[in-house]
Amino acid sequence: KQPIYTLAIESSCDDTSAAVFKNNKKLSNIIASQAVHEKYGGVVPELASRAHQQNIVPVVDQALSQAKVDRKDLSAIAYTKGPGLLGSLLVGSSFAKSLAMALDIPLIEVHHMQAHILAHFIDDENQKIPQFPFLALTISGGHTQIVKVNDFFDMQVIGETLDDAVGEAFDKCGKMMGLGYPAGPIIDKLAKQGNPERFTFSKPKVSGLDFSFSGLKTAVLYFLQKEKKANPNFVDENIKDICASFQKTVVDILMDKMKIAVKDTGITQIAIGGGVSANSGIRTALKQAEIGLGWQSYVPKFEYCLDNAAMIAIVGYYKFLQQEFADFGSTSKARLKL
Ligand code: KG4
Ligand code: ZN
Repeated sequence: KQPIYTLAIESSCDDTSAAVFKNNKKLSNIIASQAVHEKYGGVVPELASRAHQQNIVPVVDQALSQAKVDRKDLSAIAYTKGPGLLGSLLVGSSFAKSLAMALDIPLIEVHHMQAHILAHFIDDENQKIPQFPFLALTISGGHTQIVKVNDFFDMQVIGETLDDAVGEAFDKCGKMMGLGYPAGPIIDKLAKQGNPERFTFSKPKVSGLDFSFSGLKTAVLYFLQKEKKANPNFVDENIKDICASFQKTVVDILMDKMKIAVKDTGITQIAIGGGVSANSGIRTALKQAEIGLGWQSYVPKFEYCLDNAAMIAIVGYYKFLQQEFADFGSTSKARLKL
């Protein structure tokens, strides 16, 4: 049987990425992050599209050369259809369509959040593969969802955020603390050296499996304003404890909902995905739940947590097996249901 060589393109937000897979194995996964957004404290969509245009050709060239795959040997091109920033998505989709057309090979469209979940199926020695059905907690800069995953393409959202995404809460609260962008990894690093019990932030009261993070954001804002009035150096002097306490609150919110989801579904296999799954607090909490609650947890390799094309390639591979190809007239979607 001929191997399937997939070239995958991911350009939904501010990372331009290309990966080459041989079947379900990664040959390369190149990620160009865009430093241009740092000074604005968030992603500037117009600048992101321009940077994607500059990056896309060199990133794809590098992915092919590192994989030692000639473009004429490619079986298909997979790309992110959505959700994401429309201008960013369009750069990836136009490129993917043109190349697939030039090479006369199938085009495969991939849902970004489905890819964060199916990243667990990348055949890599450092990864454990979950069994169906499992629960996925997808936590990123744009999404916070609990998904019941019955099969590769049979997924059901059973809970989601009513307002901000968890990564957004990290980034916005970090900005209030004067941290750089994205603040998630910075908070994580500082939290490791702080006392998580020092400050308490009230948790939102949302019933069922849905989340809310906007109230936490306001609570952090008022807390910082009040403390800074009493001591202008409060943040600098206590940053590690503030980060540790904030992170603990977020992790508790996520874990409380996962406990309800496990109770409701009877499923104890938990997989996490999305940028925030790089967080050490959530990783530790899941490890503790293995011992304390008898869960089996699945955490992707760090490389597959943040936005990357390897996760697009693995979905492309499974869609190729099902011969699920896209029409060249299909369009990118900023909003796209799972
Ligand atoms: O999945 P991703 O790369 O892009 C989106 O699809 O949104 O996720 C990016 C988000 C950002 O909000 C970033 O602050 C957050 O993931 N993040 C983290 C950590 N690493 C990345 N949040 C908390 N702790 C981390 N270690
Ligand atoms: Zn993402």
